[in-house]
Amino acid sequence: MPAFPENFLWGTATAAYQVEGAAFEDGRGPSIWDTFSHTPGLVANGDTGDVACDHYHRLEEDLNILADLGVGAYRFSISWPRVLPGAGDRINQPGLDFYHRLVDGLRARDIAPVATLYHWDLPQELEDAGGWPNRDTALRFGEYARRMGEALGDRVHTWITLNEPWCSAYLGYASGVHAPARTDAAASLAAVHHLNLGHGLAARALREVIDPAAKISVTLNLHHIRGESERDAEAVRRTDALANRAFLGPMLDGAYPRDLIEDTASVTDWSFVQDGDEATAAAPLDLLGVNYYNPVLVRQWDGTSERDQADGHANGAASPWIACDDVDFVRQPGPYTEMGWNIDETGLTELLLRLHRDYPELPLMITENGAAFPDVVSDDGHIHDEQRVDYLRRHLTAVTEAIEGGADVQGYFLWSLMDNFEWAHGYAKRFGIIRVDHDTQVRTWKDSAHWYREVVAANALPATDQVTTTAS
Ligand code: FCB
Repeated sequence: MPAFPENFLWGTATAAYQVEGAAFEDGRGPSIWDTFSHTPGLVANGDTGDVACDHYHRLEEDLNILADLGVGAYRFSISWPRVLPGAGDRINQPGLDFYHRLVDGLRARDIAPVATLYHWDLPQELEDAGGWPNRDTALRFGEYARRMGEALGDRVHTWITLNEPWCSAYLGYASGVHAPARTDAAASLAAVHHLNLGHGLAARALREVIDPAAKISVTLNLHHIRGESERDAEAVRRTDALANRAFLGPMLDGAYPRDLIEDTASVTDWSFVQDGDEATAAAPLDLLGVNYYNPVLVRQWDGTSERDQADGHANGAASPWIACDDVDFVRQPGPYTEMGWNIDETGLTELLLRLHRDYPELPLMITENGAAFPDVVSDDGHIHDEQRVDYLRRHLTAVTEAIEGGADVQGYFLWSLMDNFEWAHGYAKRFGIIRVDHDTQVRTWKDSAHWYREVVAANALPATDQVTTTAS
């Protein structure tokens, strides 16, 4: 019965555009995801986040579900265009009041609020002015962070500046499968830098205004990259630089890795990096947030074989893997989740141990982990999602192994509290432990939610339950 450290923080996670709905209410302005989802052909089934899980109007019900789950923390994101519509400096009070109600409602239930400032919903006006490739966006992000710190900083337990800047930069600006659907490799690398800079500015601004006991963090979707054979070391190095060290370098070491600059020299000269930016990006952090779903397997392309590009991200007009033309992303053995992602929890242990080795002083927090499966509502009205329970059990076991190996992992946030708008997949992919009927908005506990409640209550994995093998 693997146990977790005392005070381990158990939570669930969501993001504003994926759950809130109320997209045109109470003065909220448009974000790049409103524009993206309303562009025909970009999201499966033409789904949008206009209503999503209607969380904005069902806040009390959802807070009560969190209380029933017994979690100690809840990770949500603040919608920038809801609180500062039009990218202006005027606070939209009704929008901010929603987050006051959320934070206060969590605390009233003894649940620690964990607030992400940017989970991909950039105000459309900032994109119109150039978006993340434009330096001004980073400065505006720092100001937004300060305003939120001033408003909520006496009650938020942990702040997360950015969620997965990898996705914002590469899926948003290089492959175009996420908003704002641009395919410009040079702009994408400029976005990488301005996300790093914006993170540093936000972390520093927060530190000046929030409760000194509150924590500051960032969430990265680090890719755990393996080579198919020893001959693939160069492919591993190159993809690791682009995917991981492009963020870890400036944020934690205060410098971009030299090899990344050299690898991408034909795309950009990085002249958008100004003196002092890297030092700004390296703002002191209390925690590093880690999102993990599956590992990546690469192979150096031999120049003739058929290409393999199974990197787990939707295929766009261009690759998100800038200057990695000779790298193949090898389809890995199953089992798979409904996203087509292979299930391999050993990558999580290895990733956590690598971070512990490279940054021994920095505590870690799993800020997302979970799985989509085609859930079925049984005749008895239950959702027997054994595959999700199995996935969670495997990954939580992997976390205990990393902890035994010395990694200081302080918490785990399950993605997701409830089925929601899964970006370009719309509502077709269900990650929740609570089922949401997207026609009626009725919430139903899946078996995984009952299971997770037991885990949280015991601070340990239950010794016996129906672990099933996952269909491949
Ligand atoms: C992550 C996102 C999150 C959700 C999960 C499945 O990349 O941060 O919003 O979509 O994937």
